[in-house]
Amino acid sequence: MRNNLFITKSITDLQQEATDNKSGLKKTLTSLNLTTLGIGAIIGAGIFVLTGQAAAQYAGPAIVISFIISGIACAFAGLCYAEFASMIPISGSAYTYSYATLGEFLAWIIGWDLILEYLFAASTVSVGWSGYVVSFLKDFGIFIPTALTAATGSVLVEVPNVGWQELTKQLTTAMMAQGVNVDALPHVTAIINLPAMFIIAVLTLLLIVGIRESANFNNIMVIVKVSVIILFIAIGIAFVQAGNWHPFIPKNTGEWGHFGWSGILRGAGVIFFAYIGFDAVSTAAQEAKNPQRDMPIGILGSLSVSTVLYILVAIVLTGIVSYTTLNVSDPVAVGVDAMGKGMFWLRPIVKIAAIAGLSSVILVMLLGQPRIFYSMSKDGLLPPIFSKVHPKYKTPYVSTILTGSVAIVLAGILPISILGELVSIGTLLAFAIVCVSIIVLRKTRPDLKRPFRTPWVPLIPILGALICFVQMAALPIDTWARLIIWMALGLIIYFTYGIRHSKQRALNNPSK
Ligand code: ALA
Repeated sequence: MRNNLFITKSITDLQQEATDNKSGLKKTLTSLNLTTLGIGAIIGAGIFVLTGQAAAQYAGPAIVISFIISGIACAFAGLCYAEFASMIPISGSAYTYSYATLGEFLAWIIGWDLILEYLFAASTVSVGWSGYVVSFLKDFGIFIPTALTAATGSVLVEVPNVGWQELTKQLTTAMMAQGVNVDALPHVTAIINLPAMFIIAVLTLLLIVGIRESANFNNIMVIVKVSVIILFIAIGIAFVQAGNWHPFIPKNTGEWGHFGWSGILRGAGVIFFAYIGFDAVSTAAQEAKNPQRDMPIGILGSLSVSTVLYILVAIVLTGIVSYTTLNVSDPVAVGVDAMGKGMFWLRPIVKIAAIAGLSSVILVMLLGQPRIFYSMSKDGLLPPIFSKVHPKYKTPYVSTILTGSVAIVLAGILPISILGELVSIGTLLAFAIVCVSIIVLRKTRPDLKRPFRTPWVPLIPILGALICFVQMAALPIDTWARLIIWMALGLIIYFTYGIRHSKQRALNNPSK
């Protein structure tokens, strides 16, 4: 008998569950839907906000190499996800995979950890959405009171010719270097981030109404953002000045992570956020028409398309302007400005693309989380209410409302930096566990039918897990402390509720 904590769910049962279709969820998603779902979740704040900052502060034009490194790391994890998703097409993603391989306790840990990825990412990206919407409306003379556009308690300062910026140490130093007295500028202490809360509320309602409707909305958003990105690349190429790429790898400043090869690595760590989301495809497995075939297509297809677009945007952007000018919240708009007055029409279009892009990321993250809760609740580890499916809309509406409500609060009161780092550490941990699980399952159940096989096992999963751990190690100690507190909270819930209500445990131990 295996140690109770490491009780596993049988793969055969899971496969049966998938074919029975007793879930009540509608099976409507095609391989194209799944690929757009992935692209919907991936392309967002990473490219529209972080690229410029990472190029300006850490890697210079070599941010292109950072994108390649981070992309390869995600491809390793993506290949492992694809094998699992084709083999166990049940919603719940990495949670379900680890229940089948590493046992219930670790499955709980990963399920709890995934909340950091999905729920917190929805809040993080909604803060970025708020920034772009406020700036877009301002271009049309519509002003939202500054105190209602940032995290509770954060101090904003009005910088001449730039607008309201969060008062950070970095900003103060930069302003002082320009001879500006920051204290003399108008200040506002923010009450709440209202636009960020608004977008989560709207998308939560959409998700309750239906998976088909949500997928359609996502498709439109994806078409908008991908078309504008391609337009930017196509037009931008003509404005490239090769001089901006020299030096391609700026010399290290003497400090680790500031240019040179260490800067490229740090840039890769920051840019990792841009790739998060391909795994969200796996949470919709039970709503896919032909999951065995289509899951790997959705996961790897969306990852490949996004990687190519990211690399091209990075090449063009750092070719149009000097990387030193990109430390802003809308680097792509800065690129358009540099194309000259004749190209000003492209500016609002880029902002619309960013808003569309960020909306779809929030949507897919808010779609993923309730489906993980759904699986955990079906297994008895969370109360039954979490798997309640709406009688008319056929969506897990209670967990969707719960996810939306918590995400609204977080989006309103927390700053993007704290949220973003928690998302990264949570996701990296999930990816690492999935990679390890592939090796475990190849050893314990070599007989299983694997419609998609990760190549070069164990090399690829080992490298995948290793790169994730290295990136986790590079995150600040505060983020680790928050992860540990979060996990401790999860353990309390598991040992007071989950372990007592686990259906798997009841099956194995009918007398209890
Ligand atoms: N990859 C997503 C983004 O960049 C989370 O917004």
